[in-house]
Amino acid sequence: MNPNAIREKFGDDYAADDRTFHMGIDQRFTTHIAARFRGRSVLETCTGAGFTTIALARVASRVTTVEIDPYHQSQAKKNLQKAGLSESVTFISGDVLDPGLLAGLTPFDAAFLDPDWAITGPDHVYRFVHSNTQPPADALLERILELTDNVAIVLPPLLDTKELAGLPPNERQKLFLGESHELYCLYFGELAVSFDETIFRVLI
Ligand SMILES: C[S@@+](CC[C@H](N)C(=O)[O-])C[C@H]1O[C@@H](n2cnc3c(N)ncnc32)[C@H](O)[C@@H]1O
Repeated sequence: MNPNAIREKFGDDYAADDRTFHMGIDQRFTTHIAARFRGRSVLETCTGAGFTTIALARVASRVTTVEIDPYHQSQAKKNLQKAGLSESVTFISGDVLDPGLLAGLTPFDAAFLDPDWAITGPDHVYRFVHSNTQPPADALLERILELTDNVAIVLPPLLDTKELAGLPPNERQKLFLGESHELYCLYFGELAVSFDETIFRVLI
């Protein structure tokens, strides 16, 4: 991986490969989203190489983060160490939808969800209902909302927002890098500042 690209997107000489680099969220967005988690104990899924974990661990009281892929988790552990934040993070290995996995965890009062958009090729069409992300975004959100009302979930910009009808009240934020719509983030419960569509733009 090009170290300059890693430094520019994530802020330091972190470990990443092609896949975790592309999956990882730009630091200008992670810092913005993480600010809503200040002082909270947070469950994060999914860790990837830990770029959102770093932003969360800087402001949260504690982060517990779940990842199914051992190689991604090993990169995340290196990156949290590099950031000097290992002490604030508990790493869990496994499938977050495995009913037993979250049982008995240290209690948390908010959750951050960043499922893999499972881009498989140029014809890929993203679906939220019967979602084709890994883990499926709809099933993941439903499961985690059973555990806490205070949830943020990152979704791709190509989302057909009609598919979100029927979800509990949420703030639907569009995140832009300049003119480019990069992400949606839905905030539920106390993480929402208004139950409306909002815009966050990084000026470039
Ligand atoms: C979009 S990436 C996360 C990127 C990360 N938030 C960052 O900024 O670097 C999604 C991650 O979810 C993991 N994943 C996929 N299915 C999972 C499951 N069922 N349980 C836990 N993690 C899963 C993937 O291995 C991948 O690392």
